[in-house]
Amino acid sequence: MLQTESGTHRLVFLIGSVVIKIPRWLRSKKKGSLRRLFKRVEFRKFLMWIRYDFKFVFQVFIDGFVENWTEWRCWRATRAEFLTPVYFSLGFINIQKRCRGAKITQDEDWEISARILKATEGDVWETNSHTFLSRGNYLRVGDGYKMIDFGDRTKDRMPVTDFIRKWHDELAEILSATY
Ligand SMILES: Nc1ncnc2c1ncn2[C@@H]1O[C@H](COP(=O)(O)OP(=O)(O)O)[C@@H](O)[C@H]1O
Ligand SMILES: [Mg+2]
Repeated sequence: MLQTESGTHRLVFLIGSVVIKIPRWLRSKKKGSLRRLFKRVEFRKFLMWIRYDFKFVFQVFIDGFVENWTEWRCWRATRAEFLTPVYFSLGFINIQKRCRGAKITQDEDWEISARILKATEGDVWETNSHTFLSRGNYLRVGDGYKMIDFGDRTKDRMPVTDFIRKWHDELAEILSATY
């Protein structure tokens, strides 16, 4: 059975025991963007579309591409037990193991975030903190948690991969228990 999910920058197809992630090219709220191009619009409006919407759509696509690639690189570099393995990536497409876990509760999210902040001495602010402090990036599996979304778009900060390397033992311990 095929299921689809839509993330911030990627479209996700869940097929059997794998997931396929591809960059999004449209935001759901902006569904009209392409359609608008083919409608009769004044030339000025058309220029506005090129200037704003097109750039925006393209940026979402680039972000999805970068997240796919960095997720794959991060898995390859760390093979951390709390990450969901990525089998293969070409940037345009990621093939990842399907994580059959449960969504985490708000309480679990707060507990995980508080523990990560404490254990890493606030170092999580030096990397893409959103990756580690967001509820949607974890699923509860058995007695612990797995990360399913660890694509990285950090530029000037510590890459997610380096943060995981540095704090691996602390993260592994926090994510090996349920709260
Ligand atoms: N490995 C996975 N196993 C199960 N579900 C997944 C997996 N990866 C993603 N998903 C589902 O797809 C949604 C969007 O994926 P995500 O990786 O968060 O995309 P984005 O980086 O665009 O936010 C997730 O919230 C989750 O519901
Ligand atoms: Mg996500």
